[in-house]
Amino acid sequence: MSNLEELVQEINRFEAIISEWDESQRCVAVGLKRAIEALHKAALTSLIKSLKQESMSALRHAVADEVVYAVLLYHELVKPPKPPLAQRIQTAFEEVRPGLNSHHGDVELVAIKPPDTVEVRLIGTCSSCPASTLTLSQGVEQAIKNHCPEITKVVAVNNNPTVNNTNSGLISPFSSKITSTWIKVATIDQVPEFSVLAVQLAGNSLILHRQGVRVTCYHNACTHLGSPLKEGKVENGIITCPSHGFQYKLETGECLTAPDVSLQSYPVNIKDDKVFVKLQKL
Ligand code: FES
Repeated sequence: MSNLEELVQEINRFEAIISEWDESQRCVAVGLKRAIEALHKAALTSLIKSLKQESMSALRHAVADEVVYAVLLYHELVKPPKPPLAQRIQTAFEEVRPGLNSHHGDVELVAIKPPDTVEVRLIGTCSSCPASTLTLSQGVEQAIKNHCPEITKVVAVNNNPTVNNTNSGLISPFSSKITSTWIKVATIDQVPEFSVLAVQLAGNSLILHRQGVRVTCYHNACTHLGSPLKEGKVENGIITCPSHGFQYKLETGECLTAPDVSLQSYPVNIKDDKVFVKLQKL
């Protein structure tokens, strides 16, 4: 048994005895322990300060001793060892994974490129989402930088838009025949002016909105993390995503919250009172 273990066992033995005492006696013992510890901490702090001024190598040598290190750690005078970088990156992923998974996405580590770069891959919905840059910078990159301050560059590589897209609907799995055909989806009076109409078309979830006689059609997916927009609140021609509040102009699909992530829109044709949509992206 090492010197450190013996010393710790001795402390534990006395603590176990004291824990059996009545409360007033325990308070005295704990008070005495705290007072002695405070004295030791003050002395150790001065000692470290002097050693730092005289010789950093002497300080490092002293801290290499397991008893010295354990006592300094107990008094919070040295930092606990950091887990390896790869482990901290996984901790960062665990933090953002619930959000990504809830939108059928995920992230994986591709490579660590010392001294300051990490390569990651967004997978599932996140890889094909028009807002993947935002997902990376707002979620994944921030989490990595919080856990790994030495990392200053997080690069997304090898996005594969065909990976696991069956739930996303961002890429039509249907034939060119269907995508190039006008399909009736509603009558004009079924398309509301103050909300949206959700329709399913050949496996694609779409929303329709009308302003006067003009009808627009979009993929029913927020460009932030892919939430359905059909429950979003519509005010003054602007729809707000129920998940995190991204806003879009229903006239154009333009995103008012983040630039360059407009809604995916589809061509609309109105004949008599019927609304036709072509599953061909604009
Ligand atoms: S999914 Fe986040 S704002 Fe829509």
